[in-house]
Amino acid sequence: MQQLINYFADKGEMLARSLSEIYENIRDYFVVRQGEQVVACAALHVSWSDLAEIKSVAVAEDTQEQGIGAQLVEACLHEAEELGIATIFCLTYKPAFFEQFGFSQVDKMELPRKVWTECYRCPKFPDCDEVALVRQLKVPASG
Ligand SMILES: CC(C)(COP(=O)(O)OP(=O)(O)OC[C@H]1O[C@@H](n2cnc3c(N)ncnc32)[C@H](O)[C@@H]1OP(=O)(O)O)[C@@H](O)C(=O)NCCC(=O)NCCS
Repeated sequence: MQQLINYFADKGEMLARSLSEIYENIRDYFVVRQGEQVVACAALHVSWSDLAEIKSVAVAEDTQEQGIGAQLVEACLHEAEELGIATIFCLTYKPAFFEQFGFSQVDKMELPRKVWTECYRCPKFPDCDEVALVRQLKVPASG
């Protein structure tokens, strides 16, 4: 997973992940394997009771354009729905990809402050050049 993510990070297409970040959040990830090889991954990270982030969506170049990226995003959205999480966001350089799944662009400053905890660790902070997108899910009202 790290090789896959950091391959695209080196090309400036997504943020790099350290091994410790990956292990600390290992339960967040969905992966697609071909044999022993991880060819795609995506993570759903819960930020709060009503907020989660889709992160690190990566599909190996020779397996792209086969619907795998879409399946991974749908898997994350499905899990968020099952968990009853109403707001899903992502920060990305590929907004058009996420717009297909009902995400809309928002000003990063509109995201709750909770999401900035991870940003402080990002080498690009505070000059974030990713685009923020949000999608609302229909979940039963909590409380
Ligand atoms: C972006 C990425 C995840 C797409 O994965 P994929 O498996 O090729 O995507 P899919 O085959 O599931 O494509 C689903 C749809 O998204 C479209 N799509 C794919 N990449 C796109 C992009 N960069 N921008 C807009 N639309 C895109 C496809 O054309 C397809 O549309 P269709 O259903 O109308 O045919 C993949 O190209 C990738 O890993 N890129 C490098 C890492 C990256 O940029 N990750 C995303 C940001 S975190």
